Amino acid sequence: MLEGSAQSYWMASSKSPEYPTLTEDVDVDVAVIGGGIAGISTAWELTRAGRPAIVLEADRIVSGVTGFTTGRLSALHPWVFAPLRDSLGAEAARLYARSQQEAVEHAVQIADKLGIQCDVERRPSYLYVEPVERTGDLKAEAAAVREAGLAASFVTETPLPYDVAGAVKLDEQVQFHPRHYLLGLAEDLVRGGGRIYEQTRVVDLVQGRRHRLTTDAGVTVHAREVVIATLFPVFGRALLDFRLVPLRELVIAAPIAEEDDPGAMFITREDNTRSVRTAPYGEGQRLLLITGESFEPGSGETTERHRTLVEWTRRHFKIGDVHYWWAAQDLDTTDKLPYVGRVDDNLYVATGYARSGMSHGIMSGRLLAGLLTGEEQPWTDLYAPRRKHPIREAGPVLKVGLSHLRRRIADQVRVTRMPVAELKPGTGAVVRMRGRVCAIYRDDHGTPHVLSARCPHSGCLVTFNDAERVWECPCHGCRFAADGSVLQGPATAPLSPEYECMNP
Ligand code: FES
Repeated sequence: MLEGSAQSYWMASSKSPEYPTLTEDVDVDVAVIGGGIAGISTAWELTRAGRPAIVLEADRIVSGVTGFTTGRLSALHPWVFAPLRDSLGAEAARLYARSQQEAVEHAVQIADKLGIQCDVERRPSYLYVEPVERTGDLKAEAAAVREAGLAASFVTETPLPYDVAGAVKLDEQVQFHPRHYLLGLAEDLVRGGGRIYEQTRVVDLVQGRRHRLTTDAGVTVHAREVVIATLFPVFGRALLDFRLVPLRELVIAAPIAEEDDPGAMFITREDNTRSVRTAPYGEGQRLLLITGESFEPGSGETTERHRTLVEWTRRHFKIGDVHYWWAAQDLDTTDKLPYVGRVDDNLYVATGYARSGMSHGIMSGRLLAGLLTGEEQPWTDLYAPRRKHPIREAGPVLKVGLSHLRRRIADQVRVTRMPVAELKPGTGAVVRMRGRVCAIYRDDHGTPHVLSARCPHSGCLVTFNDAERVWECPCHGCRFAADGSVLQGPATAPLSPEYECMNP
C-alpha cells in the first residue's frame, strides 16, 4: 500500500456538473476534441469571440491530464530560454517569453472578470540548481530570460528550507486551482452559447470541406473547423510520432504548518526533477505539493519512485502524513516548443506542453482562437506544428526513433512464459501463450482478466503498472484500465479480448 490516497487533490477538492453525451448528429462551425486546458480554453475564447464551439470529451472534462497537473502558472519554464535564443534567435525567445507571460496575466484577468474562485495566489517562481558547478549555466539561463524580456534575477538565497547553489527568480507568477478555473470557464462557455458533450469519444475523422467526425456511439459531427486538443493528437499523428516523447511524474501532497510554507514555487531538473508549491488547506496549514521522479510510461517501479519522493520530502520539509498522491503525464517535444496551430485545411492541433501545461494551455486557447477568427497572435509561427528545425531536431528525432526501435526489440525479450497461476493477486504480466502475446491481470479475488497485449494505437506491447493498476504503453503514452478501456489516448479503441489467451 502506498502512503496517501491515490487521487489528485484537484479532483478530490472540486465537483464538476455533468454535461450530456452527444446522441444525435450535428452540424457545427467549430468542434474541439478534448476537454482539458487547451480544449476548454480554445472553445471559451472562440465562444467569446462570437464563434460558439462544441467540445467533445471522451470522458469527463478537466479530468484527464489537466486534473492531475501541479497548477503552476509561470512563464519561467526550466532551461528553455538560452537554448531557444541560441538556436532560433533572440526574437524567438522574446516571443516565447511574451506569449507565456501574457497567458499568465490572461488567466488572472479572466478569473477576476468572471468571478471564478480558483485560489489565485501571486508568488515568485524559482528555477534552482544545487551543485555549485551548475551555477555558470544557470547564470547564462538567467541572462537569457532577462534578454527575452522577463524581469528575472539570479539569486543565491531562496526561502527553501535547504541550501541551493543558485536560482533564477521571477516575481509575480501565479499558483491556482486548475480545475476550479477551468470548470468556471466551461460554465461560462455554455452560458455564451458553446456546448460541451462528455462521454463522447471521437473515433474517426474524415477530412473534407466539412470534416466528418464519428463518435463511439456512431453519432456524426460535421464541422467546418476541427481543433484536436487531446494530450497526444488522436488523429494526424504521423506528423508528430517521432517528435513527441511521453513522460510521467509523481506528485505527493501533504499538509505543512502555515509558518513552514516557503511562499513561492520552485523547480529543478536535478534529483530527477523536483517541483515545489503549496495550496490553501484549511486553518493554520497549507498543502505542500511535491512533483518529481520523472519516468517513461510503462517503465514500472512506481512504488519505488513514490517511496523515494516521500523520503525526499520528509528529509526537506516538516510534513505530516501524505494525504494524496497521483501521477501526471505530459509530452516533451524534440525542439522544446509545443505544437500549436494549423496542421491542414481547417484542422488544428495543440500538444507537447513539456511539463509547463498551464501557461501553454492558456496560450494555445488564445493562439488557436486567433487563427480561427483572423486575429493571429505574433507567436503563431513560433509554435506552428508544421515548423521544421532540421538541425535542432535531427538528434532528438533520431533518439526517439531509436528508442521506439529498441522498445520493439525489448518487447520480444520481456514477454514471459510464466504459468499464469504464478501471477499474484493485484499484479499483471505480459505472457506468451499459444503463440499470442497476452496481457493478464489477476484481481484481488484471484480472477485473471485476459486481453491482447498489443496497443491498438500502433502495436507496441503494454506493461502493467502495479501501483495504479493500469496497462501503459511506452511508445506514445496510452493508458488502459484493467478491463482494457482507454484511459488516455492516442488510442481510440480499447485493448481487445484475446481469445487464444482465455482459459489459461
Ligand atoms: S501509444 Fe502508440 S503504440 Fe501504444
